[in-house]
Amino acid sequence: MIKKGIILAGGTGSRMSPVTKAINKQLLPLYDKPLFFYPLSVLMLAKIKDILIIVNKGQVQQFKKVLPNGKNLGIKITYLEQEKPRGLPDAFIIGEKFIGKDSIAMILGDNFFFGQSLTKKLIECTKLTNGAKVLLHPVKNPHLYGVATTNKQKKITKIIEKPKKTKSNLAVTGLYFFDNKVIKLSKSLKMSKRNEIEIVDLLNKYKNKNLLRAEIIGRGGAWLDTGSIKDFNNTSNFVATIENRQGFKIGCIEEIAFNNKWINKNHIINATKFYGNCEYTKYLNSIINK
Ligand code: DAU
Repeated sequence: MIKKGIILAGGTGSRMSPVTKAINKQLLPLYDKPLFFYPLSVLMLAKIKDILIIVNKGQVQQFKKVLPNGKNLGIKITYLEQEKPRGLPDAFIIGEKFIGKDSIAMILGDNFFFGQSLTKKLIECTKLTNGAKVLLHPVKNPHLYGVATTNKQKKITKIIEKPKKTKSNLAVTGLYFFDNKVIKLSKSLKMSKRNEIEIVDLLNKYKNKNLLRAEIIGRGGAWLDTGSIKDFNNTSNFVATIENRQGFKIGCIEEIAFNNKWINKNHIINATKFYGNCEYTKYLNSIINK
């Protein structure tokens, strides 16, 4: 079982400038909570309790203001800095000590997932013992993402980063599961033309050894974009629509920890004191007063 996870939450957020000039994109509000609560909740739904959050140089204190440690969630949070955006596989080089001899899950700090069978799929993915697994999702505009071509057995036959033309509509989401070889393989990657080490090169190394598998999140699930201002706003409105209709919050990390039985009522009360008088606190109170 994969028990450790990384949230890669650095990057320049250049497509969302000027709002990202002074603030890390992952701290911006996606409706009613900071963006990184959503990928954090995905790892927690996968029952991952040991989590490394990688942020830009000089930003750890900012993140700690909203999530000082994992105590109130019954999990362990470690923060590390990325010197500069050197590419997604850099996470496994920065996180080498954290990963140790284990397998690892990684989610990009700006990725949003929602859907009924999601938790089941996530748990299935954590069963990986060797090789790598990616989650794919059909999209209308695949050229904006990593794109995978699969055969009838759902095996990945081709994987390309942002292809101009492609027959496949399956985007590679920013959620990956790797065995421990990922550290060594990431270190062996060459810089691309845009001066980064590329996730697609890493995935191709697994694919060439016949060790890359795929899990598809079908049309019953949602993987939404937060890359541009427009997409960010649309995803924010999606959260608002669902939450205001159902009365349940998406990505409420304390609720997930409580449901997982990692924390008790007292932890939730501590969290309400920490957040103060706000809608989020009202929701937390409603969880323990059910
Ligand atoms: O979201 C899924 C897509 O993410 C995949 O389909 C692509 O294959 C993958 O390359 C990636 O594409 P993006 O164009 O979205 O990557 P971007 O450079 O925008 O970075 C995604 C997130 O990772 C963002 O939150 C910033 C963070 N990041 C990125 C880089 C390159 C870092 O923290 N450090 C980095 O060095």
